[in-house]
Amino acid sequence: MKQKEKPKTYTPLTEEAYDRYMQAGSVAAQVLEESKELVKVDASLLMVANALEEMIYEAGMKTAFPVNISLNADAAHDTPSPDDIRIFAREDVVKIDIGVHLDGYIADTALTIDLSGEHELLVEAAVAARDAAIAVVKPGIQIGILGEYVAKEIMSRGFKPIHNLTGHGVDRYVLHMPPNVPNIPKKGGIILEEGMVFAIEPFASTGAGNVTDKNRIEIFSEIASRPVRSPSARSILKEINPRRGMPFARRQLQNYSELGLTRLFKDGILHGYPVLSDEPGSFVSQSEHTVIVTEDGCIVTTSPGTARTRLPVSHPPSSDD
Ligand code: CO
Repeated sequence: MKQKEKPKTYTPLTEEAYDRYMQAGSVAAQVLEESKELVKVDASLLMVANALEEMIYEAGMKTAFPVNISLNADAAHDTPSPDDIRIFAREDVVKIDIGVHLDGYIADTALTIDLSGEHELLVEAAVAARDAAIAVVKPGIQIGILGEYVAKEIMSRGFKPIHNLTGHGVDRYVLHMPPNVPNIPKKGGIILEEGMVFAIEPFASTGAGNVTDKNRIEIFSEIASRPVRSPSARSILKEINPRRGMPFARRQLQNYSELGLTRLFKDGILHGYPVLSDEPGSFVSQSEHTVIVTEDGCIVTTSPGTARTRLPVSHPPSSDD
Protein backbone atom coordinates (compact mmCIF):
# COMPACT_ATOMS: atom_id res chain seq x y z
CA MET A 1 0.00 0.00 0.00
CA LYS A 2 1.29 3.45 -0.88
CA GLN A 3 2.09 5.82 1.94
CA LYS A 4 3.53 9.26 2.45
CA GLU A 5 7.30 9.46 3.16
CA LYS A 6 7.69 5.74 2.91
CA PRO A 7 10.93 4.65 4.59
CA LYS A 8 13.14 2.13 2.83
CA THR A 9 14.92 0.71 5.85
CA TYR A 10 13.86 -0.32 9.31
CA THR A 11 14.22 1.92 12.33
CA PRO A 12 16.10 0.07 15.09
CA LEU A 13 13.78 -1.92 17.36
CA THR A 14 13.76 -0.51 20.88
CA GLU A 15 12.43 -2.37 23.90
CA GLU A 16 9.47 0.00 23.99
CA ALA A 17 8.71 -0.67 20.31
CA TYR A 18 8.96 -4.41 20.89
CA ASP A 19 6.53 -4.20 23.77
CA ARG A 20 4.02 -2.24 21.74
CA TYR A 21 4.25 -4.59 18.79
CA MET A 22 3.44 -7.41 21.21
CA GLN A 23 0.52 -5.55 22.77
CA ALA A 24 -0.94 -4.66 19.36
CA GLY A 25 -0.42 -8.27 18.27
CA SER A 26 -2.24 -9.58 21.31
CA VAL A 27 -5.28 -7.42 20.63
CA ALA A 28 -5.26 -8.24 16.91
CA ALA A 29 -5.17 -11.95 17.73
CA GLN A 30 -8.11 -11.65 20.10
CA VAL A 31 -10.17 -9.63 17.63
CA LEU A 32 -9.42 -12.15 14.88
CA GLU A 33 -10.54 -14.99 17.18
CA GLU A 34 -13.77 -13.11 17.83
CA SER A 35 -14.44 -12.94 14.08
CA LYS A 36 -14.96 -16.73 14.13
CA GLU A 37 -17.96 -16.18 16.40
CA LEU A 38 -19.41 -13.30 14.42
CA VAL A 39 -19.09 -14.53 10.84
CA LYS A 40 -22.18 -16.71 10.34
CA VAL A 41 -24.61 -17.36 7.49
CA ASP A 42 -27.06 -14.41 7.27
CA ALA A 43 -24.91 -12.13 9.48
CA SER A 44 -24.35 -8.63 8.12
CA LEU A 45 -20.84 -7.83 6.82
CA LEU A 46 -21.24 -4.24 7.95
CA MET A 47 -22.15 -5.24 11.50
CA VAL A 48 -19.24 -7.67 11.73
CA ALA A 49 -16.73 -5.07 10.51
CA ASN A 50 -18.06 -2.46 12.94
CA ALA A 51 -18.11 -4.88 15.87
CA LEU A 52 -14.51 -5.98 15.29
CA GLU A 53 -13.28 -2.41 14.96
CA GLU A 54 -15.15 -1.48 18.14
CA MET A 55 -13.18 -4.18 19.99
CA ILE A 56 -9.95 -2.57 18.79
CA TYR A 57 -11.01 0.86 20.05
CA GLU A 58 -12.18 -0.58 23.37
CA ALA A 59 -8.72 -2.06 23.85
CA GLY A 60 -7.32 1.49 23.61
CA MET A 61 -5.86 0.92 20.16
CA LYS A 62 -6.54 2.00 16.59
CA THR A 63 -7.10 0.34 13.25
CA ALA A 64 -3.98 0.17 11.08
CA PHE A 65 -6.44 -0.35 8.23
CA PRO A 66 -10.18 -1.03 8.10
CA VAL A 67 -11.26 -4.59 8.83
CA ASN A 68 -11.07 -6.31 5.43
CA ILE A 69 -13.84 -8.79 4.66
CA SER A 70 -13.22 -10.36 1.25
CA LEU A 71 -15.42 -13.10 -0.16
CA ASN A 72 -14.71 -16.08 -2.44
CA ALA A 73 -12.66 -14.99 -5.51
CA ASP A 74 -11.90 -11.67 -3.82
CA ALA A 75 -8.54 -12.02 -2.08
CA ALA A 76 -8.21 -8.71 -0.28
CA HIS A 77 -9.11 -5.04 0.15
CA ASP A 78 -12.87 -5.36 0.39
CA THR A 79 -14.60 -3.76 3.35
CA PRO A 80 -18.28 -2.89 3.80
CA SER A 81 -19.54 0.39 2.37
CA PRO A 82 -21.50 2.75 4.70
CA ASP A 83 -24.85 1.37 3.50
CA ASP A 84 -23.71 -2.20 2.77
CA ILE A 85 -26.63 -4.65 2.75
CA ARG A 86 -24.58 -7.81 2.11
CA ILE A 87 -24.99 -10.82 4.38
CA PHE A 88 -22.84 -13.96 4.51
CA ALA A 89 -24.08 -16.85 2.38
CA ARG A 90 -23.72 -20.58 2.98
CA GLU A 91 -21.20 -20.99 0.16
CA ASP A 92 -18.92 -18.12 1.18
CA VAL A 93 -15.19 -18.42 1.75
CA VAL A 94 -14.55 -15.40 3.99
CA LYS A 95 -11.18 -13.73 4.52
CA ILE A 96 -10.96 -11.52 7.62
CA ASP A 97 -7.86 -9.31 7.76
CA ILE A 98 -7.26 -7.26 10.92
CA GLY A 99 -4.83 -4.36 11.37
CA VAL A 100 -4.23 -2.89 14.81
CA HIS A 101 -1.73 -0.29 15.95
CA LEU A 102 -0.61 1.07 19.28
CA ASP A 103 1.23 4.38 18.85
CA GLY A 104 2.00 3.35 15.29
CA TYR A 105 3.28 -0.15 16.12
CA ILE A 106 1.34 -2.42 13.83
CA ALA A 107 -0.05 -5.93 14.03
CA ASP A 108 -1.48 -7.44 10.85
CA THR A 109 -3.23 -10.82 10.94
CA ALA A 110 -5.77 -12.70 8.88
CA LEU A 111 -7.71 -15.94 8.65
CA THR A 112 -10.22 -17.67 6.41
CA ILE A 113 -13.66 -18.87 7.46
CA ASP A 114 -15.20 -21.52 5.23
CA LEU A 115 -18.96 -21.29 5.78
CA SER A 116 -19.82 -24.21 3.44
CA GLY A 117 -17.35 -26.61 5.01
CA GLU A 118 -16.34 -27.67 1.50
CA HIS A 119 -13.02 -25.87 1.35
CA GLU A 120 -11.19 -27.34 4.32
CA LEU A 121 -8.08 -28.19 2.30
CA LEU A 122 -7.96 -24.72 0.72
CA VAL A 123 -8.09 -23.11 4.18
CA GLU A 124 -5.46 -25.53 5.47
CA ALA A 125 -3.16 -24.73 2.53
CA ALA A 126 -2.81 -21.06 3.48
CA VAL A 127 -2.29 -21.87 7.17
CA ALA A 128 0.31 -24.56 6.44
CA ALA A 129 2.10 -22.21 4.03
CA ARG A 130 2.24 -19.44 6.60
CA ASP A 131 3.51 -21.75 9.33
CA ALA A 132 6.12 -23.34 7.07
CA ALA A 133 7.48 -19.89 6.26
CA ILE A 134 7.44 -18.80 9.91
CA ALA A 135 9.39 -21.95 10.86
CA VAL A 136 12.38 -20.99 8.70
CA VAL A 137 12.59 -17.29 9.62
CA LYS A 138 15.89 -16.44 11.34
CA PRO A 139 18.72 -13.96 10.91
CA GLY A 140 20.97 -14.64 7.94
CA ILE A 141 18.49 -16.25 5.55
CA GLN A 142 17.41 -14.53 2.34
CA ILE A 143 13.76 -13.58 2.30
CA GLY A 144 13.21 -15.07 -1.15
CA ILE A 145 13.47 -18.57 0.31
CA LEU A 146 10.20 -18.07 2.21
CA GLY A 147 8.31 -18.13 -1.08
CA GLU A 148 9.57 -21.65 -1.71
CA TYR A 149 8.09 -22.94 1.53
CA VAL A 150 4.82 -21.09 0.94
CA ALA A 151 4.38 -22.35 -2.62
CA LYS A 152 5.29 -25.94 -1.72
CA GLU A 153 2.55 -26.23 0.93
CA ILE A 154 -0.08 -24.69 -1.34
CA MET A 155 0.80 -26.58 -4.53
CA SER A 156 1.14 -29.94 -2.77
CA ARG A 157 -2.55 -29.56 -1.85
CA GLY A 158 -3.51 -28.88 -5.45
CA PHE A 159 -3.90 -25.09 -5.32
CA LYS A 160 -2.04 -22.07 -6.67
CA PRO A 161 -0.31 -19.45 -4.54
CA ILE A 162 -1.31 -15.96 -5.62
CA HIS A 163 1.93 -14.79 -7.16
CA ASN A 164 1.16 -11.07 -7.23
CA LEU A 165 0.25 -10.67 -3.56
CA THR A 166 3.01 -10.63 -0.96
CA GLY A 167 3.68 -10.22 2.72
CA HIS A 168 5.42 -7.00 3.67
CA GLY A 169 7.70 -5.27 6.12
CA VAL A 170 6.09 -3.02 8.72
CA ASP A 171 7.53 -0.13 10.68
CA ARG A 172 6.11 2.54 12.96
CA TYR A 173 3.07 4.04 11.17
CA VAL A 174 4.15 2.23 8.00
CA LEU A 175 1.94 -0.64 6.95
CA HIS A 176 3.80 -1.73 3.84
CA MET A 177 7.52 -1.32 3.28
CA PRO A 178 10.33 -3.42 1.89
CA PRO A 179 10.92 -6.28 2.02
CA ASN A 180 8.13 -7.99 0.13
CA VAL A 181 7.63 -11.52 1.40
CA PRO A 182 7.00 -13.61 -1.74
CA ASN A 183 4.39 -16.34 -2.00
CA ILE A 184 6.27 -18.04 -4.83
CA PRO A 185 9.93 -19.09 -5.03
CA LYS A 186 12.18 -16.05 -5.54
CA LYS A 187 15.94 -15.89 -5.75
CA GLY A 188 17.69 -13.81 -3.15
CA GLY A 189 16.11 -10.75 -1.62
CA ILE A 190 17.26 -9.04 1.56
CA ILE A 191 19.02 -10.97 4.28
CA LEU A 192 16.98 -11.11 7.49
CA GLU A 193 18.35 -9.42 10.58
CA GLU A 194 17.31 -9.47 14.19
CA GLY A 195 14.65 -6.82 14.92
CA MET A 196 13.02 -6.79 11.49
CA VAL A 197 9.22 -6.87 11.61
CA PHE A 198 7.11 -8.23 8.79
CA ALA A 199 3.82 -9.86 7.89
CA ILE A 200 3.74 -13.26 6.21
CA GLU A 201 0.48 -13.68 4.29
CA PRO A 202 0.06 -16.51 1.82
CA PHE A 203 -3.02 -16.74 -0.40
CA ALA A 204 -4.09 -20.08 -1.89
CA SER A 205 -6.45 -20.15 -4.86
CA THR A 206 -8.54 -22.62 -6.86
CA GLY A 207 -8.20 -20.13 -9.73
CA ALA A 208 -5.28 -18.72 -11.71
CA GLY A 209 -3.23 -17.55 -8.73
CA ASN A 210 -3.32 -14.05 -10.13
CA VAL A 211 -5.32 -11.08 -8.86
CA THR A 212 -6.56 -8.07 -10.78
CA ASP A 213 -8.26 -4.85 -9.66
CA LYS A 214 -12.03 -4.70 -9.48
CA ASN A 215 -13.91 -1.43 -9.90
CA ARG A 216 -14.98 -1.41 -6.27
CA ILE A 217 -12.90 0.89 -4.01
CA GLU A 218 -13.83 1.32 -0.35
CA ILE A 219 -10.38 1.80 1.17
CA PHE A 220 -8.23 4.91 0.78
CA SER A 221 -5.12 6.49 2.26
CA GLU A 222 -3.67 9.98 2.22
CA ILE A 223 -0.53 10.02 0.06
CA ALA A 224 0.10 13.73 -0.49
CA SER A 225 -0.29 16.93 1.51
CA ARG A 226 -1.71 19.75 -0.55
CA PRO A 227 -4.13 22.55 0.28
CA VAL A 228 -7.67 22.03 -0.99
CA ARG A 229 -10.43 24.58 -1.47
CA SER A 230 -13.55 22.43 -1.36
CA PRO A 231 -15.03 22.59 2.16
CA SER A 232 -16.22 18.97 2.05
CA ALA A 233 -12.77 17.78 0.92
CA ARG A 234 -11.18 19.91 3.62
CA SER A 235 -13.27 18.44 6.39
CA ILE A 236 -12.37 14.90 5.25
CA LEU A 237 -8.68 15.83 5.21
CA LYS A 238 -8.92 17.28 8.70
CA GLU A 239 -10.47 14.07 9.89
CA ILE A 240 -7.98 11.67 8.28
CA ASN A 241 -4.79 13.65 8.96
CA PRO A 242 -4.19 12.01 12.37
CA ARG A 243 -4.09 8.62 10.63
CA ARG A 244 -0.65 9.59 9.25
CA GLY A 245 -1.26 7.97 5.90
CA MET A 246 -2.70 4.73 7.26
CA PRO A 247 -5.66 3.40 5.27
CA PHE A 248 -9.28 4.14 6.15
CA ALA A 249 -12.68 3.15 4.78
CA ARG A 250 -15.45 5.30 3.40
CA ARG A 251 -17.68 4.03 6.23
CA GLN A 252 -15.17 5.14 8.90
CA LEU A 253 -15.53 8.81 7.94
CA GLN A 254 -17.71 10.92 10.22
CA ASN A 255 -17.59 13.78 7.71
CA TYR A 256 -18.29 11.52 4.77
CA SER A 257 -19.21 13.22 1.52
CA GLU A 258 -18.88 11.53 -1.84
CA LEU A 259 -18.11 14.89 -3.43
CA GLY A 260 -15.23 15.59 -1.06
CA LEU A 261 -13.84 12.09 -1.34
CA THR A 262 -13.95 12.16 -5.16
CA ARG A 263 -12.23 15.55 -5.17
CA LEU A 264 -9.34 14.28 -3.02
CA PHE A 265 -9.04 11.12 -5.09
CA LYS A 266 -8.95 13.01 -8.41
CA ASP A 267 -6.43 15.51 -7.00
CA GLY A 268 -4.08 12.64 -6.15
CA ILE A 269 -4.25 13.37 -2.43
CA LEU A 270 -5.92 10.06 -1.74
CA HIS A 271 -4.82 6.69 -3.05
CA GLY A 272 -7.55 4.09 -3.52
CA TYR A 273 -7.18 0.35 -2.97
CA PRO A 274 -9.39 -1.57 -5.40
CA VAL A 275 -10.72 -4.97 -4.36
CA LEU A 276 -8.21 -7.58 -5.59
CA SER A 277 -9.79 -10.62 -7.16
CA ASP A 278 -8.78 -13.89 -8.82
CA GLU A 279 -10.84 -15.20 -11.74
CA PRO A 280 -14.66 -15.31 -11.31
CA GLY A 281 -15.91 -18.53 -9.75
CA SER A 282 -12.63 -19.29 -7.97
CA PHE A 283 -12.10 -19.46 -4.22
CA VAL A 284 -9.20 -17.88 -2.36
CA SER A 285 -7.97 -18.53 1.19
CA GLN A 286 -5.58 -16.37 3.23
CA SER A 287 -3.65 -16.71 6.45
CA GLU A 288 -1.42 -14.09 8.04
CA HIS A 289 0.79 -13.43 11.05
CA THR A 290 3.15 -10.60 11.94
CA VAL A 291 6.60 -11.68 13.15
CA ILE A 292 9.66 -10.07 14.69
CA VAL A 293 13.02 -11.64 13.81
CA THR A 294 14.85 -12.69 16.98
CA GLU A 295 18.41 -13.90 17.63
CA ASP A 296 17.64 -17.48 16.62
CA GLY A 297 14.24 -17.41 14.91
CA CYS A 298 11.22 -15.19 15.22
CA ILE A 299 8.38 -14.38 17.56
CA VAL A 300 4.83 -14.26 16.24
CA THR A 301 3.25 -11.09 17.64
CA THR A 302 -0.26 -12.08 16.51
CA SER A 303 -0.32 -15.62 17.87
CA PRO A 304 -3.48 -16.36 19.87
CA GLY A 305 -1.29 -18.61 22.03
CA THR A 306 0.76 -15.72 23.36
CA ALA A 307 -2.24 -13.37 23.63
CA ARG A 308 -2.43 -11.59 26.96
CA THR A 309 -5.79 -11.19 28.57
CA ARG A 310 -5.37 -7.77 30.11
CA LEU A 311 -7.83 -5.65 28.21
CA PRO A 312 -8.09 -2.75 27.82
CA VAL A 313 -4.36 -1.99 27.79
CA SER A 314 -3.08 1.19 29.30
CA HIS A 315 -0.63 3.31 27.39
CA PRO A 316 0.56 6.91 27.39
CA PRO A 317 -1.52 9.19 25.17
CA SER A 318 -0.15 9.29 21.66
CA SER A 319 0.19 12.49 19.69
CA ASP A 320 -2.66 11.60 17.38
CA ASP A 321 -5.31 11.02 20.04
CO1 CO B 1 -0.74 -7.63 5.61
